[in-house]
Amino acid sequence: MATVCVAVGLLKPRSVKGGVLFQAHPSVKLAFSSFSLEPALSDNAKSFLNVAIETALEAGKILREEFARPPEIKYKGDVDLVTQADKRSEQAIVDRLSKYFPAHAIAAEEGLGSDHDAEYRWHVDPLDGTTNFAHGYPCFSVSIALAHCDKVIAGVVYNPIYEELFAAARGDGATLNGNKISVSKVPSLATSLLCTGFPVHKRKASPNIHYYYDFTLRSHGVRRDGSAALDLASVAAGRFDGFWEFGLKRWDVAAGLILVEEAGGKITDFHGAPYQLGGPVVLATNGLVHEEMRLVALDLSRRDPASPPQNPTF
Ligand code: IPD
Ligand code: CA
Ligand code: CA
Repeated sequence: MATVCVAVGLLKPRSVKGGVLFQAHPSVKLAFSSFSLEPALSDNAKSFLNVAIETALEAGKILREEFARPPEIKYKGDVDLVTQADKRSEQAIVDRLSKYFPAHAIAAEEGLGSDHDAEYRWHVDPLDGTTNFAHGYPCFSVSIALAHCDKVIAGVVYNPIYEELFAAARGDGATLNGNKISVSKVPSLATSLLCTGFPVHKRKASPNIHYYYDFTLRSHGVRRDGSAALDLASVAAGRFDGFWEFGLKRWDVAAGLILVEEAGGKITDFHGAPYQLGGPVVLATNGLVHEEMRLVALDLSRRDPASPPQNPTF
């Protein structure tokens, strides 16, 4: 049976032995074959988040173990690395999620999950920052998010070396190790600290070095930390005031997206349209520097990417 997405408000939870069952509002005539015994949508995001947290902690433990060993590096592309740690972490995540939620789809980077037509889809990056990991630089993370009908409702980003766990459930705020976090109050691009990342595929075709140059001269600086999930978590925690990147995949962004939104930030594309998971470009900020960054980026996007960078006019 094809899955059907309905508005959250049209579903009511009902307690049953061993769990909670969804009940549709009488006005909704649907068969909920894939819902049974999954957490109710009233407290669903939080219940799902708890599973995501438990799963990220387990995966993080694997990454810590693997980080203590010499990495086994293979190449998926030019500079697209994959290690034993990516695979082990992903297997553990997929095993746990599919045990809890057999009907859910799992879109995981290394392809071990089963991605199919489903109302709920997990977006999993088992090791975001593989290049850092492979070089012994302790800036990498596990990123796990759950989307309901393509809307992210829960997300976790975990740096297992610093033991920092960022988590958010839709409507319930964002936390770092259990403490509420919020985006920064930095009001202007000129006084902001930004971050970005560069693709591991078709590197020469990426225009981002021009954006990097321009934004560096307009701000306090631009960091390039090598884990998009942590970059977004850092915007949510107020460490960075803005982040942009081209060509990120859904599993890179899904968890970070809800962290930023729940921490009070803003995520769009360069035209100001709400960011769609898997969209070609993401701009995530504290909200206050958003328009300034967006207009600079839009202006840059209209220039010939092959031309050398020009000095920004202030
Ligand atoms: C990469 C990281 C990096 C970003 C790259 C991603 P991976 O993910 O998120 O920060 O700049 O575009 O591919 O390959 O380490 O999971
Ligand atoms: Ca990634
Ligand atoms: Ca990865």
